[in-house]
Amino acid sequence: MDKKELINCGKVKSVYTTSNDDEVIIEFRDDITAGDGERKEVMSKKGSYNAVISSKIFKVLEDEGVETQFIDLPETNVMLAKKLEMIPIEVIVRNIATGSLVRKYPISEGTKLNPPIVQMDFKDDEYHDPMLNDSLIKALGIASQEEIDILTSKALKINEILTEFFADAGIILVDFKVEFGKDSEGNILLGDEISPDGCRLWDSETLEMLDKELFRKGKDSEVMDAYVEVYNRIIPDDEKVI
Ligand code: TYD
Repeated sequence: MDKKELINCGKVKSVYTTSNDDEVIIEFRDDITAGDGERKEVMSKKGSYNAVISSKIFKVLEDEGVETQFIDLPETNVMLAKKLEMIPIEVIVRNIATGSLVRKYPISEGTKLNPPIVQMDFKDDEYHDPMLNDSLIKALGIASQEEIDILTSKALKINEILTEFFADAGIILVDFKVEFGKDSEGNILLGDEISPDGCRLWDSETLEMLDKELFRKGKDSEVMDAYVEVYNRIIPDDEKVI
């Protein structure tokens, strides 16, 4: 593996330079965290499950015309990706009300949100990821109005594609978080990952949780079974590598 210098060590992924200036290697570690990283555990093979799930989803999105940073998955927990300058915004799309939305606003748990809610949070653990709005984003110099509009329309397109993709696997896409970045030519591409770490996924029949919410709720022993279930449902047998 053509891994050179560690340039970013996040809570669950490490990013390395390669001999190609336009490419990076993203290593998905087996760490799992909650509460701005305050609680952390290691779960065997979690990095591989997330890398394979994320790669599959990025390929599905590419096939539908959404540009992503994905290039290849040379090892089960290692993604080769286009190098991006990440935009420090977590774009959250919500189809069903739950989590912080029902804690902070008078909306009941389980309310269907049509049209979906698009929310942008400032990605900064020191400030505890506060929610942004267009004028804050511009005042902080994070993005222009044109870029905000691109992020919103890309997030909604991703939601449409993935809602159908997960529905075909018997899974409801309740909400999810995505991050974007700019390539060397200034194009905005989907980056980071889309995995059960950053999505709420509920079984369509039983409504049981199949995502990191289990860890947030302290049900640590159920987390890996849920991730493996998502993997088994969305990765066709001839693409299974774990
Ligand atoms: P949200 O309801 O705001 O999270 P919580 O209830 O934990 O405060 O989260 C909405 C979705 O976005 C959910 O699928 C988790 C994802 N998300 C992240 O992946 N990272 C984050 O920092 C946040 C705030 C949300």
